[in-house]
Amino acid sequence: MVEVSDLKKLEYLQSVIKQTLRLYQVGPLSMPHESMQDCTLEFCPERFLTTHKDIDIKGQHFELIQFGAGRRMCPGLSFGLQIMQLTPATLLHGFDIVSHDGKPTDMLEQIGLTNIKASPLQVILTPRLSTYIYDDEIEMI
Ligand code: HEM
Repeated sequence: MVEVSDLKKLEYLQSVIKQTLRLYQVGPLSMPHESMQDCTLEFCPERFLTTHKDIDIKGQHFELIQFGAGRRMCPGLSFGLQIMQLTPATLLHGFDIVSHDGKPTDMLEQIGLTNIKASPLQVILTPRLSTYIYDDEIEMI
């Protein structure tokens, strides 16, 4: 199964998380706003492997400060980043994941202190590894 020590090798997953945080900030503290016209946003995690390879999320690059920057930046950064990587890495490693109705996931957000999906995520998880691996994990829990 995925271990914390594996995370540094999962560069594409790290890029996906950076890109996701640009689109869906965890703590949207500014005034709610919406665009006046439809626009298309490209989900392009590859930018963090190519043109923006050197941009990290740890308060050094002001293009990407989802944890803040400076003395008051988030003290939960390391923990938050680890959990945000470990959870999808473990799920993607262990399961094939498809939407329950074959349609794209509705990503509509609801207003709040933290950014929460307006509707529950509904997906079908199908185990993709040998059964004994899941048994071992359950025994560990
Ligand atoms: C994805 C996860 C998280 C994100 C994106 C996030 C983001 C932020 C941001 C933007 C700030 C404000 C920083 C500033 O004022 O410059 C903040 C502050 C803070 N965060 Fe987080 N955070 C996350 C997870 C966590 C976790 C897991 C903890 C604790 C276990 C935590 C504890 C705190 C605390 C205590 C502050 C206030 C720091 C201060 O005002 O001195 N955060 N966080």
